Amino acid sequence: MAGIRLQLEDSDPPQSRTPASGELISDDERSIAADSWSIKSEYGSTLDDEQRHADASDALAAANLPPVSDYGSDEEGVDGDGVSSMLGLQSYWDSTYSDELANFREHGHTGEVWFGVDVMETVASWTKRLCIDISQRSTSNQVDNDAKDEPAEMKEQDLSSWSVLDIGTGNGLLLQELAKHGFSDLTGIDYSEDAINLARALAGRDRFANINFLVDDILETKLERQFSLVMDKGTLDAIGLHPDGPLKRIMYWDSVAKLVAPGGVLVITSCNSTKDELMQEVENFSQRRTTVFHEREVAADQEPVKRSPPFQYVDHIRTYPSFMFGGVVGSRVATVAFLRS
Ligand SMILES: C[S@@+](CC[C@H](N)C(=O)[O-])C[C@H]1O[C@@H](n2cnc3c(N)ncnc32)[C@H](O)[C@@H]1O
Repeated sequence: MAGIRLQLEDSDPPQSRTPASGELISDDERSIAADSWSIKSEYGSTLDDEQRHADASDALAAANLPPVSDYGSDEEGVDGDGVSSMLGLQSYWDSTYSDELANFREHGHTGEVWFGVDVMETVASWTKRLCIDISQRSTSNQVDNDAKDEPAEMKEQDLSSWSVLDIGTGNGLLLQELAKHGFSDLTGIDYSEDAINLARALAGRDRFANINFLVDDILETKLERQFSLVMDKGTLDAIGLHPDGPLKRIMYWDSVAKLVAPGGVLVITSCNSTKDELMQEVENFSQRRTTVFHEREVAADQEPVKRSPPFQYVDHIRTYPSFMFGGVVGSRVATVAFLRS
């Protein structure tokens, strides 16, 4: 798995960029970006981060996964579990969005829509319907609601109560799409500053002034609020392609579990993990948490508390077209929703 598996689609005329790594960025650009990677990804600046890194390393050791590599490394290579890729490095994204921002300023190009416009539109409309269903179910649990058979379109006002966070928002177009569907409390984060500059510029151009965009690393998030809907389209994929992908995926789940409000929903779109793989990853996360809580209770001489798993599978998109790859047919994109308990 050397990169994100699915071929990308441009929303604008092609700008000669492919998802492969080394040849994409000039040596000068790459070394500048590499400097920024080693500065911005430096762990250990606070005690909390050191602790989180140590916790995740312990979890990796317990799961028999390869040890953590040098975080300053900016080289593409093979890790113990597969092939990593520059798409896992912040330097790659900094350089990519710096180019895309320049392209937008000079030519008005929007840049790439990861997995294509069709997938983005499908994810947005499917998510809207899912949220309306969940809102209606919770309403009809509270009161005997005569209107529960009304078509979904008549229930769009329910969406105003959903606060949305898009993790690794890139150009922010998924949030624009969700805004078109009626969501109004919208926040996008990305660790690449130029991604956020681009997302803000595009939102300004397209008159979506109400979308908030922040520079933030999901693995060391500074966000203090929780959201009822958290979206991830391609970000866990990118995180998993870092040389320390297995460690970073563990940190990802810890962060995301804090950001999704109880009763809220996480919607992940991936082309590197199937629906079943994502469900297995969630199951592994649950087991890790159970073990950690249990050990703490034992250490504190407390009675073990029975807890529900942090995330439960709700639904997935079933309408993606199939692709033929290496003689094998399958849907190359998976979108899965999990409910936060
Ligand atoms: C494959 S792109 C997807 C972009 C966008 N979600 C979309 O669908 O067009 C992955 C994005 O994740 C961002 N990213 C990767 N790791 C991140 C992290 N640790 N924190 C925040 N953003 C991250 C990258 O900068 C990039 O914008």
